[in-house]
Amino acid sequence: MNFSCLAIRVLTLQGLCSPRLGCLRFKTSKFRAPAPLSLTLADTTASPSCPKARPNCCACNKTNKMPIQAKIGPSILNADLANLAAESQKLLDNGADYLHLDVMDGAFVPNLTFGHPMVKCLRNHIKEAFFETHMMVQNPEQWITPMADAGVNLYTFHVEPVKDVCSVTRKIQEAGMKVGLAIKPGTEVKEIEKYIDVADLVLVMTVEPGFGGQSFMADMMPKVEWLRNNYPNLDIEVDGGVGPKTIDCCAKAGANWIVSGTAVVGSADQRQVIGEMRNVVKSYLK
Ligand code: DX5
Ligand code: ZN
Repeated sequence: MNFSCLAIRVLTLQGLCSPRLGCLRFKTSKFRAPAPLSLTLADTTASPSCPKARPNCCACNKTNKMPIQAKIGPSILNADLANLAAESQKLLDNGADYLHLDVMDGAFVPNLTFGHPMVKCLRNHIKEAFFETHMMVQNPEQWITPMADAGVNLYTFHVEPVKDVCSVTRKIQEAGMKVGLAIKPGTEVKEIEKYIDVADLVLVMTVEPGFGGQSFMADMMPKVEWLRNNYPNLDIEVDGGVGPKTIDCCAKAGANWIVSGTAVVGSADQRQVIGEMRNVVKSYLK
């Protein structure tokens, strides 16, 4: 654990994770503050209150709770990638809240998709939508700058191959993106517990990453339940085999960001499927 991570940990354990700290971390993420986190932590006079602190901030859970929202993010993995812009725009026009872009390097997973050049081209066609890249790659640190330059909003990476998760997390925030931490089915959620306070979202995979169209793994739901019970304001995402038949299970467990590939892209009525899933998630949000 490096110094920045340790500092956050110590402050949290000592009950010193103040609203100010939450605001400072938000500023680091949103405004591309170049300063290292350790310096930012020391500068506790920079922000007077916590109106915009991240919803999973430990202090703000108590003082300024922001309700989590239901979000449906179609995965374009099984779409016609030769018509990516048109396919993506169609999903957005049909009510998608964000686009989930599956980046695979052929090393972390046995499949290859696309990288930042394609994401940048897509961004040139679609100016406003929220882009999440799901980085199924061996070295997520390598692609932070080019993905930020390509217009990515949320950079979700797998912790499994990463030695220094806090360092990668900090670099993503310094590049101006939000941070998602992803875990494969074989990774226990406890393994990322120490990083949750510095993440914007946790992605619980409900298939082995690598391919669309696989069967949903219901036995991943205890991970989602544990996260929701312990982090009521955390954005929790599920990905893999999620559709109208499995959404209830995910929503009941506490997921609020829903990735759905085949079930949405392959549907004759995308708007209906997206709307139906969002309504199910909303019905479980307090
Ligand atoms: C799997 C990908 C998923 C997946 C979603 O490695 O991360 O995003 O393709 O597609 P479906 O919903 O078809 O499983
Ligand atoms: Zn994905």
